[in-house]
Amino acid sequence: MSQPDLRIVNPAATFRVIVTKELPGDRWLRLLTAAGCRVEIAQGTDVLGEAEILAAVGDHADAVIGQLTEPWTASLLERLSAAGGRIYSQFAVGYDNVDVEAATQLGLPVGNTPGVLTETTAELAVALTFSAARRVPEGDRMMRAGGYDGWLPDMLLGALLHRRTLGVIGAGRIGAAYSRMMVEGHKMDLVYYDVRVNDELERYVADYAAFLENHDEAPVSCRRATNLNDLLHLADVVSIHAALTPETRHLIGAPELATMKDTAVLVNASRGPLIDEAALVEHCRANPGFRVGMDVYEREPEMAPGLAELENAVLVPHLGSATTWTREGMATLAAANAVAILRGWPVWPAAADAGDVAPFLGGAEPPRAAPSIVNAAELGLARWSG
Ligand code: GLV
Repeated sequence: MSQPDLRIVNPAATFRVIVTKELPGDRWLRLLTAAGCRVEIAQGTDVLGEAEILAAVGDHADAVIGQLTEPWTASLLERLSAAGGRIYSQFAVGYDNVDVEAATQLGLPVGNTPGVLTETTAELAVALTFSAARRVPEGDRMMRAGGYDGWLPDMLLGALLHRRTLGVIGAGRIGAAYSRMMVEGHKMDLVYYDVRVNDELERYVADYAAFLENHDEAPVSCRRATNLNDLLHLADVVSIHAALTPETRHLIGAPELATMKDTAVLVNASRGPLIDEAALVEHCRANPGFRVGMDVYEREPEMAPGLAELENAVLVPHLGSATTWTREGMATLAAANAVAILRGWPVWPAAADAGDVAPFLGGAEPPRAAPSIVNAAELGLARWSG
């Protein structure tokens, strides 16, 4: 079992907290040390596997702050719990790499970081949408290769999105933020697919439609699709913002791609396995007018064979939450989750519902609460009451 190199901060403190990667900013570390934590941070960029994490945990650890790239299986969570672990706090909003059911059975809270990456991730999805629709990387490659010999009427023609139809799969926090950006910014009609009705989003679009009419402009519309195909065959842009679960794996495969317009733009900034990537490569090859913007991949960090060669694919390396403000905020939330559980503080109520974690991110001392524990209800953890 190879022990990762660990940077140790505040060595004489009471609680031992393992952090499996260096995190941005320093507020997270100040929160942990002020709460009496000895913090041991794994060095280097290699993704830690189960053996390395267990070696870092050793005989005793009170908490681990870990990454979405790590395998938080039942066996790893059991070993953490047996070593005295009282929380696994993930530095991410998504937690499909964590066996939450096993954690709950062990009585182990699982933390995540919602709210701070909503707009950031939505903005990246917008960037991918327009990069793909307007062929920005193709133009960039042409310029760098010295291929631009002068303006031509039919060079690199893309798709206009203004007043077209937007299809959003998963209208939770990020999907709704992306929808508002695209509807408000580009006056697109919205069709969304979600198991839940998003009343707030529907009201928002209705109010915006009324605003447009007051300005003598045609309104925009919003409706919830009755089934996925209904959305796929209508939409000029399809953007995926759903969580990865056994039910959503390969939500978009060959039949769904065939249902889409052959000039559509498909964007994925959620989780790679929602798309059957091999089928996507085939589809992009057969339909050069179809464009895709990808932030996530089925088997990260690898790509399906052929994907990298496609001119009609825009590919970035899982950058959804990659702004300094957001990553520092995520680190703060991940540390605040660990501190709160170690100190016996309650769970912040707003996170699960509205993602309002702003009080944790300002300059003042954060509330004495855990910003977001995904299995708080199942574990019967006390809620903050002010
Ligand atoms: C990033 O993908 C996250 O889930 O935070």
